[in-house]
Amino acid sequence: MKYKIRKFEQNLIDISIPEKIFFLNDSKNLVLDLGCGEGEFILNLAKQDSNSHFIGIEIKYGRILKCLKSLAKLNLKNINFILGDATLILSQFVQKGSTKRFYINNPDPWPKDKHGKNRIINSVFLNHIFDLLSHKGDLVIKSDDLNYINLIRTEVQKSKFKITLDHNEKLPSTKFQTSYAKKRVPIHTVYSKKN
Ligand SMILES: C[S@@+](CC[C@H](N)C(=O)[O-])C[C@H]1O[C@@H](n2cnc3c(N)ncnc32)[C@H](O)[C@@H]1O
Repeated sequence: MKYKIRKFEQNLIDISIPEKIFFLNDSKNLVLDLGCGEGEFILNLAKQDSNSHFIGIEIKYGRILKCLKSLAKLNLKNINFILGDATLILSQFVQKGSTKRFYINNPDPWPKDKHGKNRIINSVFLNHIFDLLSHKGDLVIKSDDLNYINLIRTEVQKSKFKITLDHNEKLPSTKFQTSYAKKRVPIHTVYSKKN
């Protein structure tokens, strides 16, 4: 692992160290943000809810470093970050029934057909998330990309999830959403629930 990130390792779950990942198996109160970017969304959630344990997963080193630097300025004990591929981490380290909510905010839409295989969301991935959720757990997906959100809705309908109505929950903004809001680009949300 690169040097800079080591300074913040108390808040980083290094998946190569078994003791670091224990509470991914222990907790029933996990909230996961997949592709958390620079972490502003999940850090704000963690400030508001000390009864849950928040984990941001992000594949880009520079972004995780920013998450960890922001976290170091806060006195929060209920949040960690993981550097890595969310698909792999979910399949190897997160236990069934352990998570009460997943957020996927503005997943990369990969608009060109030839790049479609890079999209993270499909019904197989969604069914895996479904199994990791606790009873009545839920999944919130947001995107500015109308084609992608329509595709996501179709994939959710093919999966074991039930789509629920937008419950107008006030959630913190993400970096991408803040920049879309400045350009007046609407954000679409798909809420779905287990059982
Ligand atoms: C469009 S950005 C959105 C970031 C943030 N959620 C937001 O709304 O501001 C998508 C993020 O997902 C991350 N990402 C893409 N594929 C990923 C994967 N397989 N595992 C973890 N993160 C991933 C990207 O590096 C990027 O930071």
